Amino acid sequence: MTKNIGILVGSLRKESFSKKIAETFSKLFPEEYNVTFIHLDGLDMYNQDFDDVGPVPESLTAFREKMKSIDAVLFVTPEYNRSVPAVLKNALDVGSRPYGASVWDKKPAAIVSVSPGAISGFGANHHLRQSLVFLNMPTVQQPEAYLGNVTSMLNEDGTVTNENTLQFFQAITDSFVDLIQKNS
Ligand code: FNR
Repeated sequence: MTKNIGILVGSLRKESFSKKIAETFSKLFPEEYNVTFIHLDGLDMYNQDFDDVGPVPESLTAFREKMKSIDAVLFVTPEYNRSVPAVLKNALDVGSRPYGASVWDKKPAAIVSVSPGAISGFGANHHLRQSLVFLNMPTVQQPEAYLGNVTSMLNEDGTVTNENTLQFFQAITDSFVDLIQKNS
C-alpha cells in the first residue's frame, strides 16, 4: 500500500553528514512509497502566543499542513550537547499544537542518530525517543540506529557504498516499514 514518508533532519548545515545519511535512507523504501524531505529551514521558533492569541506565522501553518499529508516519520539527527538539536525539537513543538490537533499522533517513526564521534548520538536518539512517547508515535525499537564515526561511512561525494553498512541501513528501513504496515 502507498505510504507517504516524511524525513526530518536535525541539521540545517549545507554539508550535513545527517542529510547525506538521510539521502541514502530515502532510497531504501519500497517502490510504492513516496519519500519527502520536510525542510526545517525558515520554520519560526514556537511561541504559544501564536496559537493562543494569533496570528499564526505562515511557516507554522505550512509545516503543519505538510505534516498532515505524511503517514510516517523518519528522524535523522545529529546530537548537540548530548541532546536533540533545537531545530528538530522546535519542529516537534510546532507540530504538537494547537492542543488536540497534533500532527504526530499515532504516526509510526524511526530514529537514526548520526555523529562523527564514537558515542553515536545516543543522547540525542534517546531524548528524541522520550518526546515521541508523549507524542504517541510508535517508534522502531530494533535494530537501534546509532551511527558513529560517520565520516568513515561516507564517500567524498556523500554516498554510502559499503555493502555491510547498506545492509544495516536496509534492516533499519525494513523494520520501519514493518511497523508502518502493522499500524495501517
Ligand atoms: C556538536 N557536536 C556533537 N557531537 C556529538 O556526538 N555529541 C554532542 O553532544 C555534540 N554537541 C555538539 C553541539 C553543537 C552546538 C555542535 C555545533 C556540534 C558535533 C556534531 O556531531 C558535528 O558538528 C556534526 O557534523 C553535526 O551533524 P551534521 O550537521 O553534520 O549533520
